[in-house]
Amino acid sequence: MTPPVLFYGHPPPALFPEPAGSVQTSPLEPGGIDLGASSAGPFASALILAPPGRLEREWVLARALQLLPVGAVLTALAPNDRGGARIAPALRAFGCEVSDEPRRRHRICRTLRPASPAGLDAALEAGAPRLDPALGLWTQPGVFSWDRPDAGTTLLLGVLPALAGRGADLGCGIGVLARQVLGSPAVSSIELWDIDRRAVACARRNVPDPRAGCHHGDVRRMGPGAPDLDFVVMNPPFHDGGREDRALGVAFIEAAARRLKPGGTCWVTANRHLPYEAPLSAAFAEVRPRAEAGGFKVYEAVR
Ligand SMILES: C[S@@+](CC[C@H](N)C(=O)[O-])C[C@H]1O[C@@H](n2cnc3c(N)ncnc32)[C@H](O)[C@@H]1O
Repeated sequence: MTPPVLFYGHPPPALFPEPAGSVQTSPLEPGGIDLGASSAGPFASALILAPPGRLEREWVLARALQLLPVGAVLTALAPNDRGGARIAPALRAFGCEVSDEPRRRHRICRTLRPASPAGLDAALEAGAPRLDPALGLWTQPGVFSWDRPDAGTTLLLGVLPALAGRGADLGCGIGVLARQVLGSPAVSSIELWDIDRRAVACARRNVPDPRAGCHHGDVRRMGPGAPDLDFVVMNPPFHDGGREDRALGVAFIEAAARRLKPGGTCWVTANRHLPYEAPLSAAFAEVRPRAEAGGFKVYEAVR
Protein backbone atom coordinates (compact mmCIF):
# COMPACT_ATOMS: atom_id res chain seq x y z
CA MET A 1 0.00 0.00 0.00
CA THR A 2 1.34 3.48 -0.88
CA PRO A 3 2.01 5.58 2.22
CA PRO A 4 -0.17 8.70 2.54
CA VAL A 5 0.76 12.28 1.72
CA LEU A 6 1.64 14.32 4.82
CA PHE A 7 -0.78 17.26 4.62
CA TYR A 8 -0.40 20.13 7.11
CA GLY A 9 -2.99 22.88 7.41
CA HIS A 10 -5.19 24.09 4.58
CA PRO A 11 -3.32 25.69 1.66
CA PRO A 12 -5.65 27.77 -0.54
CA PRO A 13 -7.40 25.19 -2.77
CA ALA A 14 -6.77 27.43 -5.80
CA LEU A 15 -3.04 26.84 -5.25
CA PHE A 16 -3.11 23.27 -3.92
CA PRO A 17 -6.28 21.23 -3.52
CA GLU A 18 -6.03 18.57 -0.84
CA PRO A 19 -4.12 15.70 -2.47
CA ALA A 20 -5.80 12.32 -2.81
CA GLY A 21 -4.52 9.90 -0.18
CA SER A 22 -3.45 12.61 2.24
CA VAL A 23 -3.67 12.67 6.02
CA GLN A 24 -4.09 15.89 7.97
CA THR A 25 -1.31 16.45 10.50
CA SER A 26 -1.96 19.99 11.73
CA PRO A 27 -2.35 20.12 15.54
CA LEU A 28 -5.32 22.42 14.92
CA GLU A 29 -7.33 19.57 13.37
CA PRO A 30 -9.04 17.34 15.92
CA GLY A 31 -9.11 13.83 14.50
CA GLY A 32 -5.90 14.33 12.51
CA ILE A 33 -2.58 12.53 12.92
CA ASP A 34 -0.20 13.73 15.64
CA LEU A 35 2.98 14.56 13.73
CA GLY A 36 4.94 14.48 16.99
CA ALA A 37 3.88 10.93 17.85
CA SER A 38 6.48 8.20 17.47
CA SER A 39 3.88 6.26 15.41
CA ALA A 40 3.61 9.07 12.76
CA GLY A 41 4.66 8.16 9.21
CA PRO A 42 5.90 6.85 6.91
CA PHE A 43 4.72 9.33 4.28
CA ALA A 44 5.16 9.38 0.51
CA SER A 45 5.47 13.17 0.18
CA ALA A 46 4.49 16.33 2.08
CA LEU A 47 2.36 19.38 1.38
CA ILE A 48 2.64 21.93 4.19
CA LEU A 49 1.00 25.29 4.79
CA ALA A 50 3.87 26.46 6.98
CA PRO A 51 2.83 28.10 10.27
CA PRO A 52 3.93 31.71 10.93
CA GLY A 53 6.08 31.35 14.06
CA ARG A 54 9.76 30.58 13.35
CA LEU A 55 10.27 27.82 15.92
CA GLU A 56 6.94 26.20 15.05
CA ARG A 57 7.62 26.43 11.30
CA GLU A 58 11.11 24.97 11.58
CA TRP A 59 9.83 22.16 13.82
CA VAL A 60 7.21 21.18 11.20
CA LEU A 61 9.69 21.29 8.31
CA ALA A 62 12.30 19.31 10.27
CA ARG A 63 9.76 16.71 11.37
CA ALA A 64 8.46 16.29 7.81
CA LEU A 65 12.02 15.80 6.50
CA GLN A 66 12.63 13.26 9.26
CA LEU A 67 9.55 11.26 8.24
CA LEU A 68 10.04 11.34 4.43
CA PRO A 69 12.15 8.85 2.48
CA VAL A 70 15.20 10.13 0.59
CA GLY A 71 14.14 11.79 -2.68
CA ALA A 72 10.50 12.37 -1.61
CA VAL A 73 8.94 15.72 -2.60
CA LEU A 74 8.29 18.26 0.13
CA THR A 75 6.23 21.32 -0.83
CA ALA A 76 5.84 24.09 1.73
CA LEU A 77 4.10 27.41 1.24
CA ALA A 78 2.95 30.40 3.26
CA PRO A 79 1.47 33.83 2.54
CA ASN A 80 4.05 36.57 1.94
CA ASP A 81 2.97 38.35 5.12
CA ARG A 82 3.04 35.18 7.25
CA GLY A 83 6.57 33.92 6.86
CA GLY A 84 6.52 32.89 3.17
CA ALA A 85 10.01 34.29 2.55
CA ARG A 86 11.44 32.36 5.50
CA ILE A 87 10.68 28.87 4.25
CA ALA A 88 13.46 28.58 1.66
CA PRO A 89 16.24 29.75 4.03
CA ALA A 90 15.02 27.29 6.67
CA LEU A 91 15.03 24.39 4.19
CA ARG A 92 18.47 25.40 2.85
CA ALA A 93 19.80 25.41 6.41
CA PHE A 94 18.63 21.78 6.60
CA GLY A 95 20.80 21.03 3.55
CA CYS A 96 17.98 21.02 0.97
CA GLU A 97 18.13 22.35 -2.59
CA VAL A 98 15.05 24.55 -2.86
CA SER A 99 12.97 26.16 -5.60
CA ASP A 100 11.12 29.24 -4.31
CA GLU A 101 8.27 30.55 -6.45
CA PRO A 102 5.99 33.55 -5.76
CA ARG A 103 2.33 32.90 -6.63
CA ARG A 104 -0.91 34.56 -5.52
CA ARG A 105 0.71 36.43 -2.61
CA HIS A 106 2.35 33.21 -1.38
CA ARG A 107 5.84 31.75 -1.60
CA ILE A 108 5.88 28.15 -2.72
CA CYS A 109 8.99 26.12 -1.95
CA ARG A 110 9.79 22.68 -3.26
CA THR A 111 12.60 20.35 -2.34
CA LEU A 112 13.49 16.67 -2.49
CA ARG A 113 14.37 15.11 0.86
CA PRO A 114 18.18 15.01 0.89
CA ALA A 115 20.09 11.89 1.90
CA SER A 116 21.69 13.57 4.92
CA PRO A 117 19.73 16.60 6.13
CA ALA A 118 21.51 18.80 8.69
CA GLY A 119 20.25 20.37 11.90
CA LEU A 120 16.96 18.50 12.22
CA ASP A 121 17.54 17.53 15.85
CA ALA A 122 18.23 21.14 16.89
CA ALA A 123 15.05 22.40 15.20
CA LEU A 124 13.01 19.59 16.71
CA GLU A 125 14.33 20.39 20.17
CA ALA A 126 13.79 24.16 19.75
CA GLY A 127 10.12 23.60 18.82
CA ALA A 128 9.39 20.84 21.32
CA PRO A 129 7.19 21.02 24.43
CA ARG A 130 9.14 22.21 27.46
CA LEU A 131 8.68 23.16 31.10
CA ASP A 132 9.22 26.94 30.98
CA PRO A 133 11.07 28.01 34.14
CA ALA A 134 9.70 31.59 34.05
CA LEU A 135 6.08 30.50 33.57
CA GLY A 136 6.45 27.39 35.72
CA LEU A 137 4.28 25.67 33.11
CA TRP A 138 4.52 23.22 30.22
CA THR A 139 4.31 25.04 26.92
CA GLN A 140 5.32 24.74 23.27
CA PRO A 141 6.15 27.23 20.51
CA GLY A 142 3.02 27.77 18.44
CA VAL A 143 0.44 27.54 21.22
CA PHE A 144 -1.31 30.72 22.34
CA SER A 145 0.97 33.10 24.27
CA TRP A 146 3.42 30.24 24.63
CA ASP A 147 6.29 32.18 26.27
CA ARG A 148 4.60 34.93 28.28
CA PRO A 149 1.38 35.50 30.23
CA ASP A 150 -1.38 37.08 28.12
CA ALA A 151 -2.56 40.50 29.36
CA GLY A 152 -6.26 39.65 28.90
CA THR A 153 -5.88 36.40 30.80
CA THR A 154 -3.95 38.16 33.58
CA LEU A 155 -6.72 40.76 33.93
CA LEU A 156 -9.33 38.01 34.29
CA LEU A 157 -7.21 36.08 36.80
CA GLY A 158 -7.01 39.24 38.93
CA VAL A 159 -10.80 39.58 39.35
CA LEU A 160 -12.00 35.98 39.12
CA PRO A 161 -13.76 35.00 42.38
CA ALA A 162 -13.61 31.52 43.91
CA LEU A 163 -16.02 29.50 41.79
CA ALA A 164 -18.09 26.47 42.73
CA GLY A 165 -19.66 23.41 41.11
CA ARG A 166 -19.15 22.14 37.57
CA GLY A 167 -17.52 24.29 34.93
CA ALA A 168 -15.60 24.62 31.70
CA ASP A 169 -12.57 26.49 30.40
CA LEU A 170 -13.33 27.05 26.71
CA GLY A 171 -10.25 27.59 24.56
CA CYS A 172 -8.13 26.57 27.55
CA GLY A 173 -4.69 26.99 25.95
CA ILE A 174 -2.10 25.52 28.29
CA GLY A 175 -4.56 25.62 31.19
CA VAL A 176 -3.76 28.90 32.97
CA LEU A 177 -7.36 29.78 33.85
CA ALA A 178 -8.29 26.25 34.94
CA ARG A 179 -5.31 26.10 37.31
CA GLN A 180 -6.57 29.12 39.21
CA VAL A 181 -10.19 27.98 39.14
CA LEU A 182 -9.17 24.66 40.72
CA GLY A 183 -7.72 26.59 43.67
CA SER A 184 -11.31 26.67 44.93
CA PRO A 185 -12.18 23.46 46.79
CA ALA A 186 -15.85 24.09 45.95
CA VAL A 187 -15.18 23.33 42.27
CA SER A 188 -16.26 19.75 41.61
CA SER A 189 -15.13 19.45 37.96
CA ILE A 190 -13.87 21.47 35.04
CA GLU A 191 -13.80 20.57 31.34
CA LEU A 192 -10.88 22.05 29.38
CA TRP A 193 -11.41 22.40 25.62
CA ASP A 194 -8.98 23.55 22.97
CA ILE A 195 -8.64 23.01 19.23
CA ASP A 196 -4.82 22.91 19.49
CA ARG A 197 -3.56 19.40 20.29
CA ARG A 198 -0.28 20.81 21.59
CA ALA A 199 -2.08 23.16 24.02
CA VAL A 200 -4.25 20.31 25.30
CA ALA A 201 -1.16 18.12 25.83
CA CYS A 202 0.45 20.94 27.88
CA ALA A 203 -2.80 21.54 29.79
CA ARG A 204 -2.90 17.85 30.77
CA ARG A 205 0.52 18.28 32.38
CA ASN A 206 -0.18 21.71 33.87
CA VAL A 207 -3.54 20.72 35.36
CA PRO A 208 -3.03 17.25 36.83
CA ASP A 209 -6.00 17.71 39.20
CA PRO A 210 -8.41 14.74 39.05
CA ARG A 211 -11.34 17.18 38.84
CA ALA A 212 -10.08 18.35 35.40
CA GLY A 213 -10.84 16.65 32.07
CA CYS A 214 -9.02 17.82 28.91
CA HIS A 215 -10.60 17.63 25.45
CA HIS A 216 -8.99 18.21 22.06
CA GLY A 217 -11.94 19.60 20.14
CA ASP A 218 -13.63 22.52 18.45
CA VAL A 219 -15.84 24.43 20.87
CA ARG A 220 -18.17 25.20 17.94
CA ARG A 221 -18.77 21.46 17.58
CA MET A 222 -19.03 20.55 21.26
CA GLY A 223 -22.63 19.52 20.69
CA PRO A 224 -25.51 21.08 22.59
CA GLY A 225 -24.88 18.96 25.73
CA ALA A 226 -27.11 19.44 28.74
CA PRO A 227 -27.18 22.90 30.32
CA ASP A 228 -25.37 21.41 33.30
CA LEU A 229 -22.58 23.84 34.11
CA ASP A 230 -22.37 26.33 36.96
CA PHE A 231 -19.60 28.41 35.40
CA VAL A 232 -17.52 28.98 32.28
CA VAL A 233 -14.23 30.86 32.11
CA MET A 234 -12.77 31.93 28.79
CA ASN A 235 -10.50 34.21 26.82
CA PRO A 236 -12.14 33.50 23.46
CA PRO A 237 -10.06 33.38 20.28
CA PHE A 238 -10.72 35.90 17.56
CA HIS A 239 -8.36 34.55 14.92
CA ASP A 240 -9.01 31.62 12.63
CA GLY A 241 -6.32 30.53 10.20
CA GLY A 242 -4.34 33.62 11.18
CA ARG A 243 -7.06 36.09 10.14
CA GLU A 244 -9.32 38.01 12.49
CA ASP A 245 -12.66 36.25 12.80
CA ARG A 246 -15.00 37.86 15.31
CA ALA A 247 -17.64 35.21 14.64
CA LEU A 248 -15.37 32.76 16.45
CA GLY A 249 -15.63 34.70 19.73
CA VAL A 250 -19.40 35.01 19.27
CA ALA A 251 -19.61 31.22 18.74
CA PHE A 252 -17.75 30.74 22.05
CA ILE A 253 -20.24 33.04 23.83
CA GLU A 254 -23.16 31.08 22.39
CA ALA A 255 -21.57 27.73 23.27
CA ALA A 256 -21.03 28.89 26.87
CA ALA A 257 -24.64 30.06 27.12
CA ARG A 258 -25.91 26.69 25.82
CA ARG A 259 -23.93 24.76 28.43
CA LEU A 260 -24.74 26.91 31.49
CA LYS A 261 -27.60 26.30 33.91
CA PRO A 262 -29.99 29.21 34.59
CA GLY A 263 -28.10 31.44 37.04
CA GLY A 264 -24.74 30.02 35.92
CA THR A 265 -21.96 32.54 35.26
CA CYS A 266 -19.63 33.08 32.34
CA TRP A 267 -16.41 35.00 32.98
CA VAL A 268 -15.04 36.39 29.71
CA THR A 269 -11.98 38.46 28.94
CA ALA A 270 -11.53 40.09 25.54
CA ASN A 271 -9.80 42.91 23.71
CA ARG A 272 -11.79 46.08 24.30
CA HIS A 273 -12.21 46.67 20.56
CA LEU A 274 -14.16 43.43 20.11
CA PRO A 275 -17.91 44.00 19.96
CA TYR A 276 -18.96 41.30 22.43
CA GLU A 277 -21.51 43.27 24.48
CA ALA A 278 -24.31 42.65 21.96
CA PRO A 279 -23.85 38.86 21.65
CA LEU A 280 -23.38 38.58 25.43
CA SER A 281 -26.58 40.54 26.06
CA ALA A 282 -28.44 38.40 23.52
CA ALA A 283 -27.36 35.12 25.13
CA PHE A 284 -27.37 36.03 28.85
CA ALA A 285 -29.89 37.49 31.29
CA GLU A 286 -27.41 39.96 32.73
CA VAL A 287 -23.98 41.24 31.67
CA ARG A 288 -21.74 43.03 34.19
CA PRO A 289 -18.43 44.66 33.22
CA ARG A 290 -15.96 43.61 35.93
CA ALA A 291 -12.60 45.07 34.90
CA GLU A 292 -10.96 47.15 32.19
CA ALA A 293 -7.23 47.81 31.73
CA GLY A 294 -4.51 47.72 29.12
CA GLY A 295 -6.95 47.42 26.22
CA PHE A 296 -8.85 44.45 27.72
CA LYS A 297 -12.26 44.10 29.32
CA VAL A 298 -13.64 41.42 31.63
CA TYR A 299 -17.36 40.63 31.82
CA GLU A 300 -19.37 38.45 34.13
CA ALA A 301 -22.45 37.26 32.27
CA VAL A 302 -25.27 35.51 34.15
CA ARG A 303 -27.45 32.98 32.34
C1 LIG B 1 -7.02 33.71 23.47
S1 LIG B 1 -6.48 32.02 23.63
C2 LIG B 1 -6.78 31.72 25.38
C3 LIG B 1 -5.99 30.58 25.95
C4 LIG B 1 -6.09 30.40 27.47
N1 LIG B 1 -7.45 30.28 27.90
C5 LIG B 1 -5.47 31.59 28.17
O1 LIG B 1 -6.24 32.39 28.69
O2 LIG B 1 -4.25 31.72 28.16
C6 LIG B 1 -7.78 31.17 22.81
C7 LIG B 1 -7.58 29.67 22.71
O3 LIG B 1 -8.68 29.15 21.96
C8 LIG B 1 -8.21 28.10 21.14
N2 LIG B 1 -9.17 27.94 20.04
C9 LIG B 1 -9.23 28.65 18.88
N3 LIG B 1 -10.28 28.25 18.14
C10 LIG B 1 -10.88 27.26 18.85
C11 LIG B 1 -12.02 26.45 18.63
N4 LIG B 1 -12.76 26.60 17.53
N5 LIG B 1 -12.36 25.53 19.56
C12 LIG B 1 -11.59 25.38 20.68
N6 LIG B 1 -10.51 26.13 20.95
C13 LIG B 1 -10.17 27.06 20.07
C14 LIG B 1 -6.81 28.51 20.73
O4 LIG B 1 -6.04 27.39 20.38
C15 LIG B 1 -6.31 29.21 22.00
O5 LIG B 1 -5.61 28.32 22.82
